[in-house]
Amino acid sequence: MEIKINNISKLDWTGDALAIGLFAEKLELPPDLKLLDNKLDGILTELIADTDFKGKIGTTSIERIGGKSPLRKIILVGLGKEEDSCLDTFRQAGGSIARVAKKAKLKTLSIALNHENYDDEILAQVITEGVILALHQDNRFKSDTEDNSISLETVELLDLSTSQNAIEKAQKITSGVILARELVNAPANVINPLTMAEMAQNLASEYGLELTILEQEDCEKLGMGSFLGVAKASDLPPKFIHLVYKPQNTPKRKLAIVGKGLTFDSGGLNLKVSGSGIETMKMDMGGAAATFGAAKSIAQLKPDVEIHFISAVTENMISGKAMHPGDILTASNGKTIEVNNTDAEGRLTLADALVYADKLKVDAIVDLATLTGACIVALGNDIAGLWTTDDDLANELKNASQTAGEKFWQMPLENKYFEQMKSSIADMKNTGSRAGGSITAALFLQQFVKHTPWVHLDIAGPVWAEKPTAIDNEGGTGFAVRTLVNWALNE
Ligand code: BES
Ligand code: MN
Ligand code: ZN
Repeated sequence: MEIKINNISKLDWTGDALAIGLFAEKLELPPDLKLLDNKLDGILTELIADTDFKGKIGTTSIERIGGKSPLRKIILVGLGKEEDSCLDTFRQAGGSIARVAKKAKLKTLSIALNHENYDDEILAQVITEGVILALHQDNRFKSDTEDNSISLETVELLDLSTSQNAIEKAQKITSGVILARELVNAPANVINPLTMAEMAQNLASEYGLELTILEQEDCEKLGMGSFLGVAKASDLPPKFIHLVYKPQNTPKRKLAIVGKGLTFDSGGLNLKVSGSGIETMKMDMGGAAATFGAAKSIAQLKPDVEIHFISAVTENMISGKAMHPGDILTASNGKTIEVNNTDAEGRLTLADALVYADKLKVDAIVDLATLTGACIVALGNDIAGLWTTDDDLANELKNASQTAGEKFWQMPLENKYFEQMKSSIADMKNTGSRAGGSITAALFLQQFVKHTPWVHLDIAGPVWAEKPTAIDNEGGTGFAVRTLVNWALNE
């Protein structure tokens, strides 16, 4: 499928369908659409009336034009109330339109959407993102995909005077989002520490990234007892993956992105009970998926920033070799941890990964993790939690997330709660009480970052969609890739 800018007027465009957007409570057609309506003998007015179209966000209508018109159909997409709209409204609209086009088996589509509040360039980018992400379907594990095929051959963006660059940028960004989705969707018998390392190797060779993989012995030498404690029961060796993107020019900044990489989380001996979502715990590498997805996009977009992409990858399993509840582990910064719950394993793997990142002398570290069910309880499925030791850095991420259309909410690093994790036998326990569970998890991680401004993102909710939305399908969403890319690009 090809997506391109076309400067032709929508009055003259011909093809399978032209899509236009309408805001709610503003259904009187603007002058340009009145002209179109006249040209089409009032079909727009008719379509709005016949389908009782109210412009509600995400709603769509499609109608045949009839006769011998070289424009065969019209698609309406609701943009919601204008005062509630934002850039993401147009990404979602792109997605909704693409879904209608797919269902109607259109081959050629044009989209005429613009807005005075936004540059044509960013609009072209986000509409393209919406189209690509809505049409992405993960058919890797299906034997018959015929009735689900996509017939769209070309999508043309009208009413936007900008170059093809905006579209290429969207293609680079969405390629990373799609990688993250596919990593999350792949079950634990497909994506495991070994295949994750192979994937990183492929990224490195394809995009010219530097790759270091620390094997178990290397991790032992570095004293990563916390990470290795989690890895003990797996039949597969752990892999500590470190990819680096280096720009051609002197880097303006150096950043590290650290993702939780549990390719499966059974809970360990504190085994997850039925009903705890154990069957979806292949998603527990969502942080690593976002990290490597961002690496793929960033390596194509080439900002003047050096970026380290890190994940301590393993699975949390059970066996005679498994760590026992009550075991004491020593992390690579020398801190000892009483493991009072083997299901709080993500923070144990992140502890050593953060100590490693903290030694790289970067200007900032962001970690992403499907860390706690408590964060989902607090913020629901659509919003990720954000904790920080540096409000400027937090603001950078919040800004990056707005253009990305991804939601983060800052939560407190309430020091007092660390008392819950005081241990009588070691430096700390790995879990506190149920109350404030996502906060104590963040406080635990904080123990392992001492020299670098740091943000922790708990993405347990938004990495996975139970139901499709305008741009996401059921399953992995690729959440946080767009935010990370914008952050790296300083946008
Ligand atoms: N991977 C889970 C968190 C999770 C839960 C992610 C649901 C996605 C959906 C994490 O390792 C975990 O098990 N956390 C425990 C911590 C508890 C033992 C303190 C939790 O949230 O219940
Ligand atoms: Mn767990
Ligand atoms: Zn986990």
